[in-house]
Amino acid sequence: MKAILCSRNAHKAREFERLLPGWTVEPLDADGWPEETGATYGDNARAKARFGRAVAGAGHWLIGEDSGLEVEALGGRPGIKSARYAPEGGPAIAKLLGELEGVRARAARYVSELVCLTPEDEEACGSGVLFGRIAEEPRGSEGFGYDPVFVPEGEQRTVAELGNAWKERHSHRARAARALLAALGAVLLLAGCGGPNKTSRRVLRAFFAGGPVVRTLGERFPHKPGTLPCTIHDQGKAVQATCATDISLVKPARAVVTLTEAWNHGAKAHTWFFFIRRDGTVQSVIQEGAPAPKS
Ligand code: IMP
Repeated sequence: MKAILCSRNAHKAREFERLLPGWTVEPLDADGWPEETGATYGDNARAKARFGRAVAGAGHWLIGEDSGLEVEALGGRPGIKSARYAPEGGPAIAKLLGELEGVRARAARYVSELVCLTPEDEEACGSGVLFGRIAEEPRGSEGFGYDPVFVPEGEQRTVAELGNAWKERHSHRARAARALLAALGAVLLLAGCGGPNKTSRRVLRAFFAGGPVVRTLGERFPHKPGTLPCTIHDQGKAVQATCATDISLVKPARAVVTLTEAWNHGAKAHTWFFFIRRDGTVQSVIQEGAPAPKS
């Protein structure tokens, strides 16, 4: 899998290579980046991904990311404006420590939101938060930005001391990337619904290796994520049904996606549980409930 990361921050492209196993992540090479004027991190992440689409053209996977540091005693600042608070590194840290001089309540959090566009412009999002506090002085040399003064909850050391390997497992971006993979699992699974379109075939092949269960489901579910009415066929007769999908559990190593179809006014139902690995491949599938009618 090859994706283009729509960010000017070179640190992030390297981080994403490690956070999305099996993916090659290239930074977008562009001038004229849009102003980050969105009301939320998600808005800015989407604007970056859309800018990437305009520059790179159709047929690419694009990832937009926006993140920031929110300090409680500063009413959530610098927040969405973290990158513009002061030049990254020493100057931004000095300004932050200056604003917090004499302040004892130093709770803070890092936030990351990701928007991924598939080559067909379907969208999947993931967000992650890392809670912590701002240290009295900078310590450590790894990471970037505010890492030398950010101490995660339950830790004594700063993120810059804990290092890049720690970040890979626990950072706000790592959490957002895991949520994104789970969301992509659902989007891609459902992009496969309805069978005949080209996206579905390619997506299913790339992500789920075209396994027999997923292939069958691809033919059966004419749906996008959510709960939707549909028609299934019971011994040649059309039967009104409802189909729902949900991501029910996200763990560091895997996520569970459930697909349920219910018919006869919900009196009968069948659920598939997909255990999806971080890289998007299906580890196993469990089925429960009354067998679905054969079409
Ligand atoms: P963005 O490129 O607009 O998302 O800018 C986010 C800004 O938030 C960065 O320039 C950093 O100042 C800060 N930031 C976001 N993530 C991190 C992190 O992992 N470590 C340190 N600072 C971060």
